[in-house]
Amino acid sequence: MNTVEFANTGVHVSEMCLGTMMFGSRCDAAEADRILGTCLDQGINFIDTAAMYGNGETERILGQIMKGRREKLFLATKVHKGVDRRSILEGIDESLARLQTDYVDLYLIHWPVEGMRPLEIMEALNQVVTQGKARFVGCCNYPAWLLAHSNAIAARNGWAPLVCNQVAYNIIERGVEVEILPQALAEGIAITAYRPLVQGLLTGKYRWGQPLPENSRGQTSAQIITWLSQYGEGVERFIRFAEARSITPVQLAIAWVRHSPAVTSPIVGVSSLSQLQATIDAFAWDLSPEDYETVTAFFDTEVKEEGLQRFPGLRYNFPRLRRNLHLLGM
Ligand SMILES: NC(=O)c1ccc[n+]([C@@H]2O[C@H](COP(=O)([O-])OP(=O)(O)OC[C@H]3O[C@@H](n4cnc5c(N)ncnc54)[C@H](OP(=O)(O)O)[C@@H]3O)[C@@H](O)[C@H]2O)c1
Repeated sequence: MNTVEFANTGVHVSEMCLGTMMFGSRCDAAEADRILGTCLDQGINFIDTAAMYGNGETERILGQIMKGRREKLFLATKVHKGVDRRSILEGIDESLARLQTDYVDLYLIHWPVEGMRPLEIMEALNQVVTQGKARFVGCCNYPAWLLAHSNAIAARNGWAPLVCNQVAYNIIERGVEVEILPQALAEGIAITAYRPLVQGLLTGKYRWGQPLPENSRGQTSAQIITWLSQYGEGVERFIRFAEARSITPVQLAIAWVRHSPAVTSPIVGVSSLSQLQATIDAFAWDLSPEDYETVTAFFDTEVKEEGLQRFPGLRYNFPRLRRNLHLLGM
């Protein structure tokens, strides 16, 4: 497994981040233990969780199975409810108790909410860092302006900045390409991309016009059913393309996300040990620029930016963006 620098922190993490949202629901503690052991054996140390997963149960399971392994891991968790000073300062203590650790490596705001106060939030996050309860802080699902605004506040006050934006990114959900990915590249913000397999839609087990697979999240996720009815034809072409290249759809889906130089680590969810190896193997396969164009065209999911799309190079052409930033001395 490759390692990558996490933002501009000098800390290196595995390129694959393990998503634990299914621990405690579709995956019990014993299976979670085997998954974590296999991850460590194969060089995966970056673990993502959240206080709200299983209403704390996922963190509790991690607390049990991390015993004796904590120092090997780069552990991220997220503020539970609300986005204010109290929820941050109380939330971190509750998470640390469930996780049975003194600190997390990364503490994230889970979702922005209307009426939130960025000054108060950045001050509270900085307090978490100065108390030694988190090494770094970040956010999930922040629009680019809010991340820039929050970090301007942090810079003015000498507080810890947000070093990471965790966002949904896959071949179907591409809104972040407009502002968030270019911002991350320009500012050295880590992008951890969740839902790279579209909740399993791109693993080959969901087929257009066929019954939903037994014992899958599709049985209960309205979102997967909607996506399948909306993009079923693209999903079929995606699966056939993978077959023609003698790779798995999982490999293709992950390679598509990794193709963006703005992505630090895709966060891949697994429900069982048997799913994990396919996921790990996916990180050893790259998509050529030509194949990237072909596969992307299977889905009509490109998001149009404002400004009459007069500056597509700022979004699509990452090498050119990099060159321009270099010329500007950034
Ligand atoms: N910050 C946020 O707001 C946010 C939101 C959502 C998720 N996340 C994070 O991102 C992680 C990943 O998200 P996600 O689980 O929703 O999406 P995902 O990684 O796109 O999909 C994971 C699902 O794909 C299926 N799968 C995985 N490997 C497979 C394989 N080899 N063969 C067949 N099926 C396979 C499993 O579904 P089945 O269980 O049906 O088999 C698994 O639950 C979460 O665990 C969480 O840590 C963060």
